[in-house]
Amino acid sequence: MTPLIVALDFPDAQAALRMADRLDARQCRVKVGKELFTRAGPAIVESLQQRGFQVFLDLKFHDIPATVAGACRAAADLGVWMVNVHASGGRAMLEAARDAIDVKIGTPPLLIAVTVLTSLNASGLAEIGCTANPTAQVIRLAGLAADAGLDGVVCSAQEATELRQHWPTLLRVTPGIRPAGATADDQRRIVTPSAALAQGADYLVVGRPITAAADPDAAMAALIAEMGPASVR
Ligand code: C5P
Repeated sequence: MTPLIVALDFPDAQAALRMADRLDARQCRVKVGKELFTRAGPAIVESLQQRGFQVFLDLKFHDIPATVAGACRAAADLGVWMVNVHASGGRAMLEAARDAIDVKIGTPPLLIAVTVLTSLNASGLAEIGCTANPTAQVIRLAGLAADAGLDGVVCSAQEATELRQHWPTLLRVTPGIRPAGATADDQRRIVTPSAALAQGADYLVVGRPITAAADPDAAMAALIAEMGPASVR
């Protein structure tokens, strides 16, 4: 299985499934985010699983501990492979999420923390009362996630190297991936798949370079070729 996770950022189930039907479940996992899930509900997760895909449910839960625990239990019952929460929800919330997932019989989903949204820069953080610089805040929240027993964090490739030094076993899930020569879209800091793996990413989240390509199959094949031997894990 490769480290590739394809972000199915589509507005409805039909479009998402049309894309999924062009992908090979042996070559990637898929990510279902807030827009698709809000439109299509748990049925889209089940449809993808029936097609053989392991699903990363990217709903970034952030609420009081009991509510997040309930949401994590529901995700585990759906049989998703990975689910995430905001580390800034605090220790009690993270531990409640961990405990809720651990009661799942069989293989529980991987529980991943979002640290600082990449859309927030230093002044955006200051505006919500956080005067730490964004990188220091990422490290602080990753430490909290590790302490609470989470399996990994979402992070940029740049952050992955530092996080690997501090917490080698914490999985690093990295968006902002663009093959050499591809358009950046709205991503501000991009790296190639092979560079991201070299910098310490364990999983690569790739959306538009595959889903918006004229030929998604060819884009996927090129991406896998570019990752080289590291793509087989
Ligand atoms: O199309 P693209 O490859 O830019 O998609 C990246 C995916 O990763 C999107 O689903 C986006 O929401 C998600 N993501 C991100 N940056 C983060 C966290 C998640 O791009 N910091």
